[in-house]
Amino acid sequence: MDILITGTGKGLGGALAAWYLERGHTVYGINRSKNEVLEKYTSFHFLLQDLSKFDEMKRTVPGFIEKPDGFDLVVLNAGVLSDIKDLRDTGLDEIKQVMDINVWSNKILIDLLFNDRRQIKQVAAISSGASVYGNRGWNAYSLSKATLNMLIKLYSEEHGDTHFCAIAPGLIDTAMQDYIYSLPDDKKFPSVQRLKKTKASGNMPSPEEAAGILAGALETALNEESGSYLDVREM
Ligand SMILES: NC(=O)c1ccc[n+]([C@@H]2O[C@H](COP(=O)([O-])OP(=O)(O)OC[C@H]3O[C@@H](n4cnc5c(N)ncnc54)[C@H](OP(=O)(O)O)[C@@H]3O)[C@@H](O)[C@H]2O)c1
Repeated sequence: MDILITGTGKGLGGALAAWYLERGHTVYGINRSKNEVLEKYTSFHFLLQDLSKFDEMKRTVPGFIEKPDGFDLVVLNAGVLSDIKDLRDTGLDEIKQVMDINVWSNKILIDLLFNDRRQIKQVAAISSGASVYGNRGWNAYSLSKATLNMLIKLYSEEHGDTHFCAIAPGLIDTAMQDYIYSLPDDKKFPSVQRLKKTKASGNMPSPEEAAGILAGALETALNEESGSYLDVREM
């Protein structure tokens, strides 16, 4: 398969790219920093690109995706967490920055991918339970992932030949969880306390474990209605 994955620098995206490469697939990765582990695979193609720089993306991405006739799978994985704090303490600038990476870079990329009638079988955007839970403190991140779910639903209506889904990968022990773990205990944010406990218990899947679960779920997702929001924990 020819697979495009964003956010291959580390975490889930890095592990998912390695999962497919190990199984003989060709992976096109986009990230703002290199991943030395992936560089050793000859079937890994890489574009060094900051996904918050839209004008640059419009110049660099078309050349990068020119060679393959199409993609069997596109995984829109790159994402950032916002600082955990109340929405009233969060400025619009902060929200806009998170929206740029978690939502609008994906819109730019989807539009570039479909620009020249390239065949794309499946597009999966990595969402989060935070897109539906609305827990206190998750401000810009929750807003961005909820918008991402709807972005995917809307595109599924426009591109009938492609299967779209927004999929929550479950908790994964990555840099995002390291940040949450580093936060001081604050009764205002009980969801943070729960996540800290889960990480401390050792029951949080590693990126490698999560990548295997996600790869299986992405196959199952094809049986669901295009445009759906899915959660690997319920599949
Ligand atoms: N971890 C969890 O428990 C969890 C739960 C639910 C959903 N998710 C979602 O899963 C996805 C992966 O998260 P993760 O936990 O693997 O996070 P991570 O370890 O922080 O990795 C995020 C990746 O996205 C890349 N990235 C961020 N901003 C970028 C930008 N402006 N341009 C290009 N690349 C950029 C990072 O690049 P660098 O390597 O250069 O920093 C990194 O490779 C995200 O969409 C996240 O919201 C994670």
